[in-house]
Amino acid sequence: MRGMPLLSVTMANPQVKPPPKATLADQAKALPNALPTALPKALPKALPKALPKALSKAQSKTQTKTKGSKVNRAWINDHVNDPYVKLAKREGYRARAAYKLKEIDETFGLIKPGHLVVDLGSVPGAWSQYLRRKFLPKPPTGGGAAGGASPSALNGTIIALDILSMEPIEGVVFLQGDFREADVLDRLVQQMAGRLADVVVSDMAPNLSGIDSADAARVEHLVELAIDFTQAHMKPQGALVAKVFHGSGYDALVKLFKQSFVTVKPVKPKASRDKSSETFLVGIGLKKDQASHP
Ligand SMILES: C[S@@+](CC[C@H](N)C(=O)[O-])C[C@H]1O[C@@H](n2cnc3c(N)ncnc32)[C@H](O)[C@@H]1O
Repeated sequence: MRGMPLLSVTMANPQVKPPPKATLADQAKALPNALPTALPKALPKALPKALPKALSKAQSKTQTKTKGSKVNRAWINDHVNDPYVKLAKREGYRARAAYKLKEIDETFGLIKPGHLVVDLGSVPGAWSQYLRRKFLPKPPTGGGAAGGASPSALNGTIIALDILSMEPIEGVVFLQGDFREADVLDRLVQQMAGRLADVVVSDMAPNLSGIDSADAARVEHLVELAIDFTQAHMKPQGALVAKVFHGSGYDALVKLFKQSFVTVKPVKPKASRDKSSETFLVGIGLKKDQASHP
């Protein structure tokens, strides 16, 4: 047993009868004898390479898991305790984002009865819900339920658009499509039926890659398109609210807003988390040379 090879060798001379091939069972039996000699030889060679790799792999796995679950736990904690999340639940909003638009609207008095508002990047629909509530007719004094108002009874028009599908909101016209695409823009303009928007709100946010320059370019592109849209399809005295992010590209967007609108204000609503670099630019009144419609 002691001399039995771990791997069988084919003999070259056909006259000499080859020894019987070692079966797997034989090889397994031989292992306890072979290993004490083979391992001390092989290990010093293999371990210096293999061990650090294996250790660092295991370590990074544990670190990612710990870091990731810590971040998740912190996010869930923040979310559950967030007063705006609680308020949104109580007041029936689909997202706490509703309070960002509410604060901006209340600060600048942008949205008025009878307005046509275009809501870009509307999903899940909290901004559209806020707009709808603004356009609900006042409950008649002496009884009657405003909540039961029919869509046609809304005192204003909301056209919402998103690349994702949106659960319907009564009275809100929804278009699904990518705002960067020409045919989607055409559909949006068709829905406006020859009217110009009074207010355009854009909460559009691209999927961020984490690469600062690429993300900045994507955000910039969406905001530029929103500005182009206002210049072609918004009343001269109208307003654009657009989400932007601090970081590279922010200054360029403020500059662009200032070239396009008479009044430009950056706003960080209370409902926008401190940790988030998001902020909103409000542009009011198109500069005369910037409106491309008559
Ligand atoms: C922060 S969410 C908007 C939340 C919304 N304001 C609300 O109150 O529920 C951003 C939205 O922008 C949409 N979006 C991003 N890029 C878009 C694009 N190119 N065209 C249309 N929608 C886009 C996303 O699908 C996402 O639903």
